[in-house]
Amino acid sequence: MSTIKFIPSDSVIDVIDSVIGMKLLVAARKNKVPIRFGCAACSCGICIIKITEPSALHPMKPNEEALLRKLKVSTNGDVRLACQAKLSGLVDAVVDLSFQDTVDINPDDDMAP
Ligand code: FES
Repeated sequence: MSTIKFIPSDSVIDVIDSVIGMKLLVAARKNKVPIRFGCAACSCGICIIKITEPSALHPMKPNEEALLRKLKVSTNGDVRLACQAKLSGLVDAVVDLSFQDTVDINPDDDMAP
């Protein structure tokens, strides 16, 4: 059995066929994980998370990379936007939701709505 564990809440999702290919935010919400989010459409950055096993997710698309750059967050695939990151397979991983508290999602005035 593969799982995605969310810390610090210790919520756990069993990664079964029904959640592979699902966006991490959707899978988390479906399993009542207390994850912060806003637009759910790759424009606010509120859903930023850090994952211990980047291979558990599909690679980033240009719009996600662009928003992370705009937020001044460097990533090697470990920092992602939960509303864009899709679960890719049966891999155990840990998602650090406390990372959401460490990022200024409005680093520039032009990020304000
Ligand atoms: S919820 Fe806004 S970027 Fe993910």
